[in-house]
Amino acid sequence: MAEQAAEKRYNVAVVGATGIVGQQFLRILHDRAFPLRALTLFASKRSAGTTIEYGGQEIEVQEIGPRSFAGVDLVFISATDDVSRTIAPLAVEAGAVVIDDSGVWRMEQHVPLVVPEVNPADVDDHEGILAIPNCSTTPIALALAPLHDVNPVQRVIVSTYQSVSGTGQAAVKELTEQTRRVLENQRPSPHVYPHQIAHNLLPEIGSFKDDGYTSEEWKVSAELRKIMHLPDLAVSATCVRVPVYVGHAAAVNVEMANAMDAEEAQTVLREAAGIVVQDDPTISLYPQPITAAGRDDVFIGRIRQDSSHRNGLVFWVVGDNLRKGAATNALQIAEELIKRGRI
Ligand SMILES: NC(=O)c1ccc[n+]([C@@H]2O[C@H](COP(=O)([O-])OP(=O)(O)OC[C@H]3O[C@@H](n4cnc5c(N)ncnc54)[C@H](OP(=O)(O)O)[C@@H]3O)[C@@H](O)[C@H]2O)c1
Repeated sequence: MAEQAAEKRYNVAVVGATGIVGQQFLRILHDRAFPLRALTLFASKRSAGTTIEYGGQEIEVQEIGPRSFAGVDLVFISATDDVSRTIAPLAVEAGAVVIDDSGVWRMEQHVPLVVPEVNPADVDDHEGILAIPNCSTTPIALALAPLHDVNPVQRVIVSTYQSVSGTGQAAVKELTEQTRRVLENQRPSPHVYPHQIAHNLLPEIGSFKDDGYTSEEWKVSAELRKIMHLPDLAVSATCVRVPVYVGHAAAVNVEMANAMDAEEAQTVLREAAGIVVQDDPTISLYPQPITAAGRDDVFIGRIRQDSSHRNGLVFWVVGDNLRKGAATNALQIAEELIKRGRI
């Protein structure tokens, strides 16, 4: 009887293990039964020495040192832009493959920017670092790609409604604190955002550029073009922070080469990987952040033809920014690397 080859197992390090994405990542790593040999957790000096429970074991959080990545196969970085900028090359030098969540590597030519349901083969081109897209880009790319396959997408106008967990742990605390203060008739003081976020909307995510767009809006456009291999795709985004804890939503208006009715679009989207269509106006069925939170799929509804353009289509998409928008996508990239023998 032929002997079955032993499954390869990997030494994994997580940088930013105490963060809101890092914590979610560890849960998903466990739930997806990733073939782990050893797990090392890193965070800042502040957290060094604390422990995190993983699979029934307490693992000590460490500060990154000169030999931290020796013998590590895969490093997932979910920390800050500065950490990603300095740590990713060190990890690659030590022989590891890095999957990075920050915005610093995504647009580099030698760094695949991957949504595995859309452009899995791009992982083949990595030179050590791979990146996940911004948490608002991923659900939009997932929705646009299958539509583009049957009817070329030419122009996209998108308005996002992004939850505070997209900014990290501190912003989640700030929403809770401000909401409490408002309800107690006290004046909330903003720290993370430039203005009060509780009971409010802020059309400012990232920093403002000379052209009037923000860095987040620029990311959505540039990243969609890179993931979809459409360097000339016309995209205009408006990104808005909303007082929701988890789940990023977007209203998307797409101009295509040909007309597409809502029914056909529904059929295409229902068959696409990673997407669940929730679209029945007669029973008020449409995606919402509270129902998308905790799920790995991206939810699409309100699909309709654009009444102002013959070849236009409009829809509403919602995804959990911490899962498919970050941790799940990062882990799926690792699984794709393993499947293709690229690690
Ligand atoms: N939140 C999202 O929805 C989302 C989605 C996609 C991508 N991302 C990206 O994921 C990354 C993490 O975001 P987050 O929302 O999880 O932020 P967060 O909750 O603020 O967590 C930040 C993490 O980085 C760690 N860290 C800070 N300085 C460090 C240092 N010098 N060395 C090592 N670790 C350090 C923190 O450790 P301490 O606890 O010790 O401070 C913490 O674990 C960011 O690059 C973000 O852009 C986030």
